[in-house]
Amino acid sequence: MRALPRQGQEWPVLQQALAEAKARDHSWRRGRMAVFFYYLDEALERVQQQAYEAFWTENNLGQRAFPSLARLEGEVVEMALSLMRAPEGAAGTFTSGGSESIFLAMLAARERGKRLRPNIVMPDSAHLTFDRAAWYLGMEVRRVPAAADRRSDVAAMAAAMDEQTVALVGSAPNYPFGTIDRIAELGRLARERDVWLHVDACVGGFLSPFLSKLGAALPEWDFAVPGVSSISADIHKHGMAAKGASLLLVRDAALKAHHRFESSAWARGTYVAHTAQGTRPGGAVAAAWAVMNYLGEAGYLDCARRIQSARGTIAEGIASVPGLEALPGEHAILVYRSTDPALPIARVAAALGERGWLVSRQLDPDGIHLHLNPLHAEVAAEYVADLRAAAEETRGGATAEMAAGRAY
Ligand SMILES: Cc1ncc(COP(=O)(O)O)c(C=O)c1O
Repeated sequence: MRALPRQGQEWPVLQQALAEAKARDHSWRRGRMAVFFYYLDEALERVQQQAYEAFWTENNLGQRAFPSLARLEGEVVEMALSLMRAPEGAAGTFTSGGSESIFLAMLAARERGKRLRPNIVMPDSAHLTFDRAAWYLGMEVRRVPAAADRRSDVAAMAAAMDEQTVALVGSAPNYPFGTIDRIAELGRLARERDVWLHVDACVGGFLSPFLSKLGAALPEWDFAVPGVSSISADIHKHGMAAKGASLLLVRDAALKAHHRFESSAWARGTYVAHTAQGTRPGGAVAAAWAVMNYLGEAGYLDCARRIQSARGTIAEGIASVPGLEALPGEHAILVYRSTDPALPIARVAAALGERGWLVSRQLDPDGIHLHLNPLHAEVAAEYVADLRAAAEETRGGATAEMAAGRAY
């Protein structure tokens, strides 16, 4: 087992070791992956890094010591609330990521609901983070098959509810398909049954408002929909901030009490926390604040335009390859599959991998999943060219294998 070195090493040696450690990683810089990263350009990268560095060691748990962080966090929350059309009196909490935002929302729903065997009801396209949160929180998850259009089947969700249901969940959009659930109908159902409605806009929170401004006809999903109790929106996704930045927004500041921890059961006096973290990195807040102010509405619109352009080019490319089909949609998530048994999608994926793309495979339908970000606008044509070549190669190989009598 590796032990701590007896003597420390010089930084240049370690710096070199880190660079070497990274050398075999898949490089996102050339845009040849459509998962795990969000990137615009070097100028924004510098803003993220320098803002983070300006608060690199400040602890956001200690807002009494660092009132600057309380102010920056407050401004980030306010900008997001106004983007998501929150009413007066709404509030929010800065978290480490989508998972923590969702965990806090489910905790709040459970605490508000106060049921003996609480359950949450959601479309089967919702992120597995809800199952993880429910596992931590001792709740049952009821996943209800989505409708044929891959959006929530609200009647089926209503039928899955009972007196133990504490929350309904909708995604805007979900990760598997990029579709936005029927949030308006879910809002009506939540109000009728007096349960919490959480909208998971971890992916869409900082993109949908700008796609809408560019003319995309997206269904309503934000606080303008009556009945929406909370929204999770990740600043470290399409908010384009450094990682470790998400928000849980609530319609009414009073709802924050449901995910507030307070105790004096130790020698140190009262301890209060609204998040699952104790120590919280100040750098993540500073970077998020700086990125939001640096991009402004114009910058986010530019990001949205680039994503639309990447989507358009790639969707057209897919349509031009016989035997491939993209699922309908207009968000940052694009899924495609094969409709031709002579073109197995697993082979196409492997052939793309050989051309240097990190391919994200979809289980159902058997396909390829892309989560597009602004950088992909620059490589979309290259992707299409490689996809065509990958399909031709696969078809050639498949035909040869079929001729040799090996069936798929
Ligand atoms: C729709 C959705 N919700 C939640 C999450 C979880 O977010 P995080 O990975 O930041 O914890 C993701 C991550 O991809 C997501 O796509």
